[in-house]
Amino acid sequence: MNKSRRDYLKGGLLSLGAALSLSKTAQALEQCHQLTPEQTEGPFYPIRDQFDKDNNLINVQGKNKQAEGEVIIIKGRVIDENCAPVEQVLVEIWQACHTGKYNHPADPNPAKLDPNFQYWGRAITNKKGEYSFKTILPGEYQAAQDWVRPPHIHFKVHRRGFEELTSQFYFKDHPLNKFDRVLQSLHPADRKKVIVDLGTKNKTSDSSNVSPRTGIFDISIRSL
Ligand SMILES: [Fe+2]
Repeated sequence: MNKSRRDYLKGGLLSLGAALSLSKTAQALEQCHQLTPEQTEGPFYPIRDQFDKDNNLINVQGKNKQAEGEVIIIKGRVIDENCAPVEQVLVEIWQACHTGKYNHPADPNPAKLDPNFQYWGRAITNKKGEYSFKTILPGEYQAAQDWVRPPHIHFKVHRRGFEELTSQFYFKDHPLNKFDRVLQSLHPADRKKVIVDLGTKNKTSDSSNVSPRTGIFDISIRSL
């Protein structure tokens, strides 16, 4: 084989390799561009300050009882539109207690508040973009006469240099999900991005001496 033909073939192989790796990058970028969809903040964003605002919502400092309900762990990563982890992101969550009641003066729900539940909390992502919360599975609640909201957790994500994101996540296979006006208002492809899989509940899930069910929830935000 003469040199020019050999060089030509080598060039061809190189460009084939380059094309393959480019298409892999394009695929990865396409997956990364799946930003977490926004949803309404709702009427119960916390307005009361509280002494304890950490990422463990099942114990309130100064109380010796644990919140009622099934303990769950929610953890995941905050990533940007290129799938790079984002550190130092403030992740806030707020939710109803196991009875479906928010600790908010505008909540008309007559259900009882759980005095041992910390209704909102904060976490800051580490160098790998990771955050976690220990909380309880929220109760469902009546949002209108013909609308019961499925269990869901509200969240807000803030970081300088990124668009602020306000949204909510839900739990896989809950029968009320398909009737929820907020969740169903999302495009079907976006709905999947806000559903957390806790795995199967077993008989002992509510017991305090078993490891809690854990859901992985990654949040993708856009840089400015
Ligand atoms: Fe809510």
